[in-house]
Parts: sequence; C-alpha cells; structure tokens
Amino acid sequence: NGFLAGLYSNAANQTADVPSSLKIAVLYASQSGTAEGLARKVVKDLKAKGHIASLISLEGYTPAALIAERYAIFIASTYGEGDAPDAVRPFFEQLCLEHFPCCENLSYSVLALGDSSYEHFCKFGIDLDSKLAALGGVRIANRIDCDVDLDEAFAQWKQALYFGLDDMASARPVRSALSASITSASKVDEPVAATHTRENPYLAPLVDKRPLTQDVSSKLTLHLAFNISGSDVTYDAGDACGVIPQNDPGLVEEILHALNFNGTVPVQLPKSGATNLYDALLNHLQITRLTRKMIEAYATIGKQSVQCHTLTSLLVPEQQGFLEKYTYDRGLIDLIHDYPHILHDPADLVAMLPRLSPRLYSISSSPYAHTGEIHTTVAVVRYRSHNRERGGVCSTLFADRTATGETLPVYIQPNKRFRLPADSAAPIIMIGPGTGIAPFRAFLHQRRALGHTGCNWLFFGERSAATDFLYRDELLAMQADGHLTRLDLAFSRDQEHKIYVQDRMLEQAATFYQWLEGGASLYVCGDASRMAKDVDATLHTIVERQSGLSADAASEYINALKDQHRYHRDVY
Ligand code: 2AM
Repeated sequence: NGFLAGLYSNAANQTADVPSSLKIAVLYASQSGTAEGLARKVVKDLKAKGHIASLISLEGYTPAALIAERYAIFIASTYGEGDAPDAVRPFFEQLCLEHFPCCENLSYSVLALGDSSYEHFCKFGIDLDSKLAALGGVRIANRIDCDVDLDEAFAQWKQALYFGLDDMASARPVRSALSASITSASKVDEPVAATHTRENPYLAPLVDKRPLTQDVSSKLTLHLAFNISGSDVTYDAGDACGVIPQNDPGLVEEILHALNFNGTVPVQLPKSGATNLYDALLNHLQITRLTRKMIEAYATIGKQSVQCHTLTSLLVPEQQGFLEKYTYDRGLIDLIHDYPHILHDPADLVAMLPRLSPRLYSISSSPYAHTGEIHTTVAVVRYRSHNRERGGVCSTLFADRTATGETLPVYIQPNKRFRLPADSAAPIIMIGPGTGIAPFRAFLHQRRALGHTGCNWLFFGERSAATDFLYRDELLAMQADGHLTRLDLAFSRDQEHKIYVQDRMLEQAATFYQWLEGGASLYVCGDASRMAKDVDATLHTIVERQSGLSADAASEYINALKDQHRYHRDVY
C-alpha cells in the first residue's frame, strides 16, 4: 500500500501532459529469432517511455492469460504455408476454440512478419489480428505486414503504436515516476549486440568453393568457405549466415539500355542516401523478381499511356490468376520490354523497386571443428523462362561472379531455436534432404569436436547417388567410424518410383519410435512447402502406429516433443 501510495503521490506531481504508465505485454512468435529481436526493441522503447513492459514468448503462453491483459503487442512471424512458428500453434489453436471468452478489455496491435515470395504472405499475423478483433479486442494501431526487408515497415508501425499508446496513457490517472524501479524487476536479458550485422557486415574472403555435385548432375550444389579468422564474428552450429548480394552487372546494363538511362545520374535511396543509378541497381535494389506492388507502381507511372491500359486491366481482382502467372516466371526486364516507354525518370524506377534483401544460408560448419571459417552449402538456382536464362541473385553470384580470394559482405543470423541438445549424451535424429544437410554437417562435426557421446541418426535425400550425394566421403567416413550411428539415404530418381526421406523413416518406424522414447531430439531442415509437411505427417503416422495411440493422442505426443524443445525445424 505504501508503495502504491507513493506512486499516486508521485503521480500528483506530474504535469498533465506526461503520459501515465501502462502495463504492456509484448508477445512474440519467432522461429528464427527475428520477431524476438524486434520485440526486445519495442520493450526497450516502452520502458524508456516509462511503461511497464514485459517480453513474453507465445511459445508456452496460454491464451487464458490474455484475458487478464489490458495492453498486448504481438510480433508474429509466418512460416511455410502461412503457418505460425511450430511452437506457437497450440496458442493459436486454443485462441480459436469456440468457447474462448471475449477480450473486450484488450487493446492490442499486431506486427506481422513474412516473406512476400511465399503465397501466404504474413498469414499468421493476419489471422491473429482478425481473431483478436473478432474477440472484441481494440486495435491501438493497425496491423502492418512486413516483408523480409522490414526496417521501414517496422519503424512506421512503431510510430503509430507509440502514438496510440501515448493517447491511451494520457487518458489514465496513474503515472509511475518510479517506473525505473518497477521495470528493473521485470528486466529481460538483453542479448549481446552482434558486431557485424546486415547494416555493418564483415567483408569475408571466400577461401574455398567446390561443387558437391558431379558435372553430369541436373543440379549444381556448392560448398563455400569464408575466412573469418581475425574478425570478431562468432556463431554456433545451427546459425545462418547472411550474405549481402550484388546483382548481375549484365542485367543492370541491359535494364539501363532498355530504358535509355545513363548509369552515372545521381539518385537518392531511402536507406543508403545519395548514389548513382548504376550502383543503386547493382547493389541496393531488387531488379529480378516482379511483385504486384512493382507492377502497380509501374502502371501508375504510365497511367496516361496507351500501353499501360492492358497492364492496369491486369490489376483488377478478377485477373489475379493471370497476374500471378505473369509475375511467376518473368522479371523486371520483361515488364520493361512488354510495356515500353513508361519510365522517363530514373527516380521513378528507383522508387518502384524494393530493396535488395540479404540472403540467408544455414551454416554447414562448426566453430569448434572449422576454426576461423564459416561454411555454407548452396544450391545454384538457374532456369530458363520466356527465352531467357535466369538465376538466383546470390547463388549465381557465388557460382559465376565470385572467385576464391575475393570478399563478400556477410553477417551471422543467429537461430537460437536450432541448437544441439544441452545434454551431450542425448540422441539426435536429423532429417535433411538436399541443402537441408547443411546444419547437420555442422552438428555432426560439432558433436565430434566437443566429444558428445549421444547417438546421431541422419536421413539424407537427393536425386541420384552417383551425382548428388552431398558430403558423401565425410558422411560415409563418419558412418564407418561409428560417429554417425545410422545413415539412411533416399535417392529419389535412382529407381522407377520416387523414394523420399519420409519413406525411409517409415521403413524404420519401430527404431525411429524407440529413439524418440529414448529421449531423442528431432531436427528437420530444408524445403518447407512439401518436404517438411510430408515429414511431419509421417512422424504422426509413425507415432500413431508404433504407440497404438489415436491420431489426437499422437498429436499430443508430438506437441509434447515441441514443448520439451525436442522437435526443431529450420525450413524455407
Ligand atoms: P525429386 O526432386 O526427385 O522429386 C532434394 O531436393 C531431394 O528432395 C530430391 O531427391 C527431391 O526429389 C526430394 N523431394 C522432393 N519433394 C519431396 C518431398 N515432398 N518430400 C521429401 N523429399 C522430397
């Protein structure tokens, strides 16, 4: 009581325009840690504003606790096919139960994170926002959907949110001048700031580049090694490496030529300031893939011109299918050729293009085994469409435009949710077809270097054993000396019918289940849209069949694995 009285008497001393203190829950749904990082920033800001803010993971958070909250801020990432991060699904399922009570006292806002190159962009954030509104919650600020390149959208949302909160706080009587002493009680551990970030990357020399596939393979997958010795870059097995890419200079020239623009003209970039058009197109802007937003901007610029009438007609909702098809296998250069003479001002081009995003690759080395190096395992993306050879920006940069000895800007993107078990004797099962092998090569080397005694089981799959058996010699050697307790291989195209990793899991169902019962942690890395879903379905089948449990009980079993941090996915 004395404490509260102190607060009130302090409140009396405040001037009327100083906002009072609100108790705010900042809830995040993170898989790779991005949402968590943003949530930490929000908590820090709110505390600086005198609010009592707590940082809470939606993992393990029961929606019933929401009923007691007055102010809740959500930062929600979407994964795979528009899903919530694995560990957060139970929260959302409970929130969606029919009998879930109203949240009329709740004021909230959602920041949705996603990747617009996926079909269900920001879907989890969107669903969460509409569910909370349907339950009677009141929005403090409207939801904003952020793409991979999220800085601006995040800043915009924060501004609206803080305005909204200021309004609400100034309407309340209590102000805590002692907020500092209160907030220190709920202090969250601030992570040690990474020295090299996307904004301040480390220029790492490429010291090794070799194909992991044979020449005659239908695919090219590369092993890359960057030297980080002498830098302060640190990482752990499971982390990803961010690379700041550069576009193909040939494509930049072609775009400049098609538009009859001179690369030396000065332009202004929202983030990087003044530069010339050539540098903007080469290093700062996304000039390959087309998005709906880009086409909208292009049509708006050309709205007076005849050519653009057909383009504008593509943007109506009934033409959604056609537009998707148009953007699917064409790029900016095709738009410029198909609808010429629209752009006359380089500033319009710069304004319509999204920022070039960093590319993230799961690290395939261990700092304990490959001192001073970061390894990555990269599938080179090349395809032909509309009479043009095309390729992935960063994978072709590695394959075609970077020689060993040259440097590339890199930074570490930690993935704290994808870690070896703390118990060095715990068994692990790793499922990583294709480049999904990357973090598991890191895990295997790390466990060996640290003397972990836990058993290791790897499921690896690729097209053909003769040409695509990534890290073949290393893996076979680890199998031969017993470090790799079990190795199950699925070469999909070596026989008439496809064989996938999940088929191998099913063949080994009894042993697989025994390992789970024996405390094994399960890891899946690779393709999100099909593989990870099919592997998850197979896991349910295995648990159901081997345990004799019902489908619901098997789901409970698997949810319990997630709760115990024994089922991890790094899928993309
Ligand atoms: P495919 O291309 O022959 O169909 C790495 O890309 C490996 O994953 C390839 O062998 C590929 O087979 C396989 N793959 C494709 N779809 C898959 C799925 N749904 N589940 C598991 N593996 C899959």
